[in-house]
Amino acid sequence: MKLDCTQRMNKRFFIETFGCQMNKSDSELMAENLRAQGFSAAATEEDADIVIFNTCSVRNHAENRALSRIKAASVRKDQIIVVAGCMAQRIGTKIIDEGIASLIIGPYQTPIAGELLQLFFSSGQRVFLSQNTKDFHPRFNGVPSVKSAHFWHRWVTITHGCENFCAYCIVPYVRGKLISFPSATIVSYIELLASSGASEITLLGQNVNQYGQDSGDIPFFRLLEKAANVHGISKINFLTSHPKDFSRETLEVIRDYPNISRAIHLPLQSGSDRILCAMNRHYTTAHYYHIIADMERILGDYAISTDLIVGFPGETEEDFKMTLEMVRRIRFDEAFTYAYSPREGTAAFGLEETLSADEKTSRLNELIALQREISREKLIHRIDRREEVLVEAISKKSSEEVMGKTFLNHPVVLPGGSDDIGHMVKVKIVKVIGNTLYAERIP
Ligand code: SAM
Ligand code: SF4
Ligand code: F3S
Repeated sequence: MKLDCTQRMNKRFFIETFGCQMNKSDSELMAENLRAQGFSAAATEEDADIVIFNTCSVRNHAENRALSRIKAASVRKDQIIVVAGCMAQRIGTKIIDEGIASLIIGPYQTPIAGELLQLFFSSGQRVFLSQNTKDFHPRFNGVPSVKSAHFWHRWVTITHGCENFCAYCIVPYVRGKLISFPSATIVSYIELLASSGASEITLLGQNVNQYGQDSGDIPFFRLLEKAANVHGISKINFLTSHPKDFSRETLEVIRDYPNISRAIHLPLQSGSDRILCAMNRHYTTAHYYHIIADMERILGDYAISTDLIVGFPGETEEDFKMTLEMVRRIRFDEAFTYAYSPREGTAAFGLEETLSADEKTSRLNELIALQREISREKLIHRIDRREEVLVEAISKKSSEEVMGKTFLNHPVVLPGGSDDIGHMVKVKIVKVIGNTLYAERIP
């Protein structure tokens, strides 16, 4: 489809995002770029002239969900359908051939979606999937918009891509090689965000602990320290950490800076050394326990969350029991649990699956039930604690209450109003209902 200049005027866009925080961040950058190119945001998909799906390929289910949304949207012939992100990279050409999208944009070029739409309108070019360095676009074009719901929070991508090639994982193929952005640029960007009203940032990378290894820049813990020293930033989160590269120095920096979140996301994946080896994870359960002991010693009060996969090819009942046992011993605050999903092109794809879908689901349910119990016990353990909460929104249940997160990233409801949003408030935890802490304000 080729449109003339008058057709380009006043076009409204709507973005639907699938997948991880990287994609959430990319969607915000895309929106900034679209606005800079003269497009405006539509309140709903129905009102939009351009519907953008920023997609994920990590599991089959994620792709199927996105594909059915794209197919449903493509029925309306007056809208331009754009498919961006990881699934675009993996099967974008097929999507174009099926005629369910007008434009395909891979992760290297997602941040310049507005410019690529202009190019599409003027030249008709429809596929942008290059993984050449010259086509790669860094992630520094967004400043907080007062209109955005989370105006005080910004994602800061510090690395793009991944070269760890965990045997099950599609990310290295769709996102490409590890690219660390220069530390000086990252710090200037955080300063710009702080001076534009941001008070909370999340440093993002598939394995933040590998920061600088490709470019010879400073190590991650130094970058974290520099970020913590930026005036005006009152809370710093970082994801994701990889046990093979996680360092004691990182914990020491967290200990020394009260504005760094004490919630650490450290994917374990399995409690069986045999399975960890088959997954190409390059650490043992003993090493993981060692990191947890360091956290206890250096931080004392901290929260630990993880990712776990059940049903990796060859996982026996005994391997699975080891995962359950490790969950019991470590007592994660939260665990994101997944049934193994074979991804074409990954090392594990050729391995024979040893469990039926029902067996995987049954293991997954057992794991989820155990973790739910532990998560609740850990929340109850917070009662009577004094904490600081960054307020995020008016509570869904009452206009006289607000909700936010503690430095351990536990969700909390407390008395308050819209003036508190984006600000830090001191509280004492008084009770737990469901998965939420309730608190009273303290001076
Ligand atoms: N880079 C992070 C790491 O090293 O753990 C996270 C990568 S991935 C985007 C998020 C989680 O999805 C992984 O930690 C893993 O538990 C899960 N995952 C990735 N590939 C999967 C697959 N093929 N089947 C099931 N779960 C998968
Ligand atoms: Fe995937 Fe492993 Fe890279 Fe994480 S570290 S993105 S799980 S390959
Ligand atoms: Fe994230 Fe999914 Fe891509 S988890 S990196 S959006 S494959």
